[in-house]
Amino acid sequence: MRRPGDTALRARLLWFDADPAEEGEARAVRYVEDGIVLIENGVIRDVGDAAAVLRRLPPDTPVVDHRPHLMMPGFIDPHLHLPQTQVIASYGAELMEWLAKYTFPEESRYGDPAVAEAAARFLLDELLANGTTTAGVYCTSHPQSVDAFFAEAERRSLRMVAGKVMMDSNAPEALRDTAATGYQQSQDLIGRWHGKGRLDYAITPRFAPTSSEAQLEACETLAAEYPEMHVQTHLSENVAEIAFVRQAFPWSKDYTEVYERYGLVRPKAMFGHCIHLSDRERGALGVAGATAVFCPTSNLFLGSGLFDLAGMRAAGILAGIATDIGGGTSYSMLRTAAEGYKVLALNGQRLPAFEAFHMLTAGNAAAMGLDNRIGRIAPGMEADLVVLDSQATAAMRRRMERVETLEEELFALIVLGDERSTVATYVDGRRAYDRHSPGRSLPPRADLAASPARANRGEAPQ
Ligand code: GUN
Ligand code: ZN
Repeated sequence: MRRPGDTALRARLLWFDADPAEEGEARAVRYVEDGIVLIENGVIRDVGDAAAVLRRLPPDTPVVDHRPHLMMPGFIDPHLHLPQTQVIASYGAELMEWLAKYTFPEESRYGDPAVAEAAARFLLDELLANGTTTAGVYCTSHPQSVDAFFAEAERRSLRMVAGKVMMDSNAPEALRDTAATGYQQSQDLIGRWHGKGRLDYAITPRFAPTSSEAQLEACETLAAEYPEMHVQTHLSENVAEIAFVRQAFPWSKDYTEVYERYGLVRPKAMFGHCIHLSDRERGALGVAGATAVFCPTSNLFLGSGLFDLAGMRAAGILAGIATDIGGGTSYSMLRTAAEGYKVLALNGQRLPAFEAFHMLTAGNAAAMGLDNRIGRIAPGMEADLVVLDSQATAAMRRRMERVETLEEELFALIVLGDERSTVATYVDGRRAYDRHSPGRSLPPRADLAASPARANRGEAPQ
């Protein structure tokens, strides 16, 4: 039976049935120059060449024609922070100072549900405007922030993975839980949200420097109680962070072993950054089936270092790519891939366009253990889709005049594209963002006239 809003979408279709880096383009890349996707009850029922699908469409199915735009699976962002939408673009610090100076004070505000609710609305508007339909989200240590995020994601039928940050050490009191409260609050949130609709809970110790051994033991207990559950944390992002871990956990031969000791290195464990890993650590992550998440705009912004994608692949580690808002500087996965390309170039590596779009979709789905539901355009997959305009700006139109192949078009879309390229975003089969009627109110302009900056310069408000 057709549900109101179910529909067929016509566009140039692109998705990946395998990783082009592993299986080669011929086996991996699926491109249909004039294709149709039939969606019923939020699930893809049919996909193929328009001429063929049109013949078998149920009568009266409305067809939305997005040609000549490209339609792909919705982008997946496996690592970002809900409470950092007002931390993004904070000046001049490496990780540990940036956390203490900007991030922890800001996150302290999220005990107020109204603050968390406003952030959740803003963040999800922003993700959808950028074509991102699933994310791995760190909330704060306040359970209210997780309730606010999941409630807003549920209202929009989004597939989301999120968790309460557990942190009982080396942070301001307003952010610290304890081993016992962190465990109990996580349990309560799991009971309220895990598996509800399209939502999954992630066990979320912030990172080893902010957890006591007692708290890591509580994480171990949770992880053992929920063997299928996501785990998300940070690993080996910054050299001062690594030195801190060496001092705090002197029994451990390296950073990764701290997480191994507490049973947190396993499938669906997503480790943000993983920049300064030894061969032993890479081997351990690979054998465990864990995921390393590359956060290029963040790694550049915080001066953290260069991710080694080839090294991850050689060790058999699943690799994802993410914004890491707000250490990261863009909500756009196109921008993120473009900066990823540049980081890898500095590391003597390459990121071809097909591999990049694979990472943003099916690759990140696999990195999050969600590839049985999202990340490809295929019957039975959930209908989360993005429609992209590769000529969204004058600079892009100018460049496209000289483009001759799909691969060249996709590469220019990555390097020059951003939010302006999003024509529409579909979630659970329904249009959740439309470039022509964005349907979101811009945040009110900050009152710069009364700002401290102006006062500091001795200027009078006008
Ligand atoms: N390590 C621990 N917390 C954070 C965070 O919020 N952002 C980044 N980039 N790294 C972290
Ligand atoms: Zn992070």
